[in-house]
Amino acid sequence: MRQPFRKVVLMCMVLFFSLTVSMAMAELQYPKLGDKKDLIVKRGYSKEAAECVECHAKKTPGITEAWKLSRMAHASISCYDCHVVEKNSPMASQCEGQKGTSTFISPMVSSKTCARCHPQEAEQFGKSGHAYLAGVPVIENKKFQALMYQHEGAGFMGNVKGSPSNRVTRAAGCQMCHGTQVELGPDNKPINETWPGGVGTRYPDGAIGNCSVCHTRHLFSVAESRKPEACASCHLGPDHPNIEIYLESKHGQQYLAHGDEWQWGSAPDTWQPGDYTAPTCAVCHMSGIGELSTSHNVNERLKWDLMHPRSVIRGGERGDGEKGDKMMRQVCANCHSKTHTDIQRTVLDGAVELYNMYYDKAAQMKSDLKTKGLLKDDPWKDAFQELNYYMWHHCGRRARQGTAMFAPDYAHWHGFFQVFQLYKDMEDLHEYRMKHNKIEELSPVMSTGPL
Ligand code: HEC
Ligand code: HEC
Ligand code: HEC
Ligand code: HEC
Ligand code: HEC
Ligand code: HEC
Ligand code: HEC
Ligand code: HEC
Repeated sequence: MRQPFRKVVLMCMVLFFSLTVSMAMAELQYPKLGDKKDLIVKRGYSKEAAECVECHAKKTPGITEAWKLSRMAHASISCYDCHVVEKNSPMASQCEGQKGTSTFISPMVSSKTCARCHPQEAEQFGKSGHAYLAGVPVIENKKFQALMYQHEGAGFMGNVKGSPSNRVTRAAGCQMCHGTQVELGPDNKPINETWPGGVGTRYPDGAIGNCSVCHTRHLFSVAESRKPEACASCHLGPDHPNIEIYLESKHGQQYLAHGDEWQWGSAPDTWQPGDYTAPTCAVCHMSGIGELSTSHNVNERLKWDLMHPRSVIRGGERGDGEKGDKMMRQVCANCHSKTHTDIQRTVLDGAVELYNMYYDKAAQMKSDLKTKGLLKDDPWKDAFQELNYYMWHHCGRRARQGTAMFAPDYAHWHGFFQVFQLYKDMEDLHEYRMKHNKIEELSPVMSTGPL
């Protein structure tokens, strides 16, 4: 700790920095812990645990340096606590440093390991859409497997099923956000590019969930997870532009204008208005605020299901919408009046109702066409079905989520404006097919158009 401090003092003297600047610099001594190894050993790690750190400081310095900066390193939680497994674990292997010893490790670390010390967070997480449900489309759903391996993976062009080029759309895309089932080879190491994975990753130890998606390794920082960037790696893009929506909202405006002055590191359940002036994703969806406690169950404060083709009030495995509505209103009440919040909630209900109206009418047209045999088997070659997909999955989600989180441009121009345009084109296709009792010859849809 001393050496960097001396460096800071020296720099200040040489550069005649003002007092404020030197204070800011003094903070920088904390990340510079290159010589902190002594401190660590003094903190009473077992000999074995200290050996992991010492060797890995040379072999994988990036990992070790990041870990040293973490709160957990300060509480003597080391590589040993998270990576060592029983010899009979399905994931057990040995790294170079352990050959000939009776210690076994795994590069995979599931939520089960974290649950040993953070049982409450893991339990709440397990009830959320981030756990089991996130893995369903990629792991269990045949329709989405056809999408990944047949359509996107060029199976339809004869790309060999199960080859790396066939698996890549899953491995580089869906898996990194949703997660996948990790498959192991004979040496208990992951195969078929099924690891690493996103939030709902299913591990060979039977656990579901990768906690490090919001607290990235090896810092595992609570401050990081409170920032919108923690969610933005997955919640973005044409089909769920949550970060874009947030940055467009007044809340995002304050974050961009003042976020670097906010207090990000307060202790759990003490992070409150004052530490920040406008909410981030975490404030509305997870963090303790006012009377609400922190929860790792992200569906707890939601009323509507805004991601599926038709929006309904949440129930069953998707949460409890009536309760969610109350809790979300409680979040707003910390900073807004009841009048203000009531209006916003009415606007959201109205957006859901309007969107559902479009969806239901489109569904009726689709059902007419189906009855008459006027839909192609391959929906990706059928203009009506492609437009229908964009209407709910892209524009319709943007309209609903843009409204829910107060981004007028997403609610309108990227949202309802496009919903109505697609709908009108679908009407034309429906009318043409019904009148001529045939499907038009060429699709007028440019699949990756500005939808
Ligand atoms: C608090 C728990 C925790 C601690 C402490 C920890 N790790 Fe990890 N480590 C993880 C998690 C979580 C992952 C990601 C695993 C996954 O995706 O399944 C990981 C991944 C890894 C990987 C494989 C991924 C890669 O980027 O290559 C290595 C190697 C690794 N850790 C080494 C270490 C070393 C060395 C230390 C000690 C200096 C350490 N870890 C400390 C939890 C931990
Ligand atoms: C004498 C050096 C040494 C010691 C001691 C050591 N390791 Fe390693 N470890 C390595 C090397 C080298 C690698 C390989 C890095 C690579 O794949 O390039 C490695 C790899 C790993 C990996 C990743 C394995 C994989 O398949 O991706 C983990 C996790 C790990 N070590 C954890 C530990 C833990 C936990 C301890 C202490 C119980 C430990 N190591 C002790 C040198 C060591
Ligand atoms: C052996 C026990 C143990 C394990 C295993 C463990 N933790 Fe921790 N963790 C702790 C302790 C103790 C603290 C409190 C450190 C402090 O505040 O001084 C902590 C703190 C944290 C924090 C708060 C950090 C901050 O910035 O304030 C996060 C986030 C966290 N752990 C995540 C994880 C994740 C994710 C895993 C699994 C990959 C994990 N922990 C595994 C014991 C553990
Ligand atoms: C969707 C993102 C996300 C995931 C996934 C996630 N966390 Fe967190 N975590 C957060 C946020 C946000 C906070 C800060 C809450 C607050 O403001 O106090 C937090 C806080 C924590 C803390 C500090 C104590 C507390 O409860 O506030 C621990 C420990 C922790 N998480 C562990 C875990 C573990 C273990 C897992 C996996 C089971 C996990 N996290 C998965 C976002 C996440
Ligand atoms: C690694 C990717 C990833 C990260 C990071 C992530 N999410 Fe998610 N999130 C998902 C996926 C995938 C789903 C859809 C799950 C499903 O299939 O139901 C989802 C769903 C949700 C939902 C709906 C939950 C439900 O139960 O229906 C909310 C709310 C949410 N995320 C909020 C957040 C917040 C807030 C953060 C940051 C603190 C965050 N997410 C970080 C991938 C991620
Ligand atoms: C950039 C990260 C990301 C990628 C890549 C991704 N998704 Fe998602 N997915 C999400 C998020 C985030 C949600 C939650 C959306 C919401 O709440 O509106 C979601 C929602 C879903 C849903 C609705 C929730 C459910 O469980 O029914 C399905 C189905 C789905 N994704 C399937 C897939 C498939 C299949 C792929 C790959 C072909 C894929 N996703 C690629 C992030 C991603
Ligand atoms: C001001 C509070 C607030 C902020 C900030 C906020 N959200 Fe939301 N979010 C909401 C509300 C309100 C809803 C709709 C809830 C309902 O149905 O009652 C919502 C809905 C969602 C959904 C849709 C879940 C579904 O049903 O498909 C996701 C995903 C989501 N938010 C993620 C995020 C992410 C990621 C961020 C940050 C980039 C964020 N939110 C920022 C309040 C907020
Ligand atoms: C931590 C405090 C905080 C929380 C919590 C919060 N907001 Fe805000 N909100 C603000 C601030 C500050 C502004 C910017 C006011 C301005 O434009 O002058 C704002 C602006 C808005 C605006 C833009 C219109 C306007 O009044 O300028 C809407 C809409 C909004 N919030 C709705 C909500 C809703 C609904 C919730 C709960 C889901 C919520 N907010 C939660 C602080 C908060």
